Amino acid sequence: MAIPIKNPKAIAHMRDASAVAATVLYSLREQVAPGITTYDLDQIGRELIAKLNARSACYGYQLGSRRYPAYTCLSVNEEVVHGIGSMKRVLIDGDTISLDVVVEYRRYIGDNAITVPVGAIAPARTKLLQVTEEALRLGIKQATVGNRIGDISHAVQAYVEKHGYSVVRDMVGHGVGESMHEEPQIPNFGRRGKGELIRPGMTLAIEPMVNIGSWRTKTLRDGWTITTVDQSDSAHFEHTVLTTEQGPEILTIPNFDSSLPVHASLA
Ligand code: MF3
Ligand code: CO
Repeated sequence: MAIPIKNPKAIAHMRDASAVAATVLYSLREQVAPGITTYDLDQIGRELIAKLNARSACYGYQLGSRRYPAYTCLSVNEEVVHGIGSMKRVLIDGDTISLDVVVEYRRYIGDNAITVPVGAIAPARTKLLQVTEEALRLGIKQATVGNRIGDISHAVQAYVEKHGYSVVRDMVGHGVGESMHEEPQIPNFGRRGKGELIRPGMTLAIEPMVNIGSWRTKTLRDGWTITTVDQSDSAHFEHTVLTTEQGPEILTIPNFDSSLPVHASLA
């Protein structure tokens, strides 16, 4: 199967879905503070998504016989991705939390994530967040027409490993559109010049997951939460990106002033 190329109408839908995903994500970020539970954050995410007339693409997401039970993915410290909000998980000063928001809006999907500090965090954690966010930026920069997916992968891996960290191998970025996961897979490791050719009209979810220690991960007994095996800290940043002749365009930019029907109710 080839990588889907979006026509102008599909691109317009992707812009809207991505703007909704970003609006929810950055509103949710405002709520992160010591003392809140990850359950409460997830509930706030659920409400924000509903207010924007969207649907969580995570809730009910099926993997084998399991269905994802929460509205957002909230992953603390050594948790890499797919953490499930819990009333027992109270955020404390010094934690980091990855907020991953995937919404479906008018049948199209926008996907984005950030990792943010809870209160004041240790310098080693600040550095991890900075390196992971910069790795995402460098990966996006490679999403130019004529490049290959491996150019994105290589840029992310080279920058991360230069700082002595490791990239997660078991999970990858992906094409995104009417489904959350489309072709191509976008590993955060790989070789320049390898993989699929990048053409205009692709919508790609680029998402480095970076560990301070080993790249190895495991799944907790809840069947979803992925953590590092060595319990080292992990960070995750993600944007939905459109490839164009003029270069990559980040679609997951919040748009509080857009013509979205109910944006005003967010205030
Ligand atoms: N951004 C994540 C991904 O691309 C979201 C997964 S949703 C879940 O895989 F349902 F699996 F949690
Ligand atoms: Co994703």
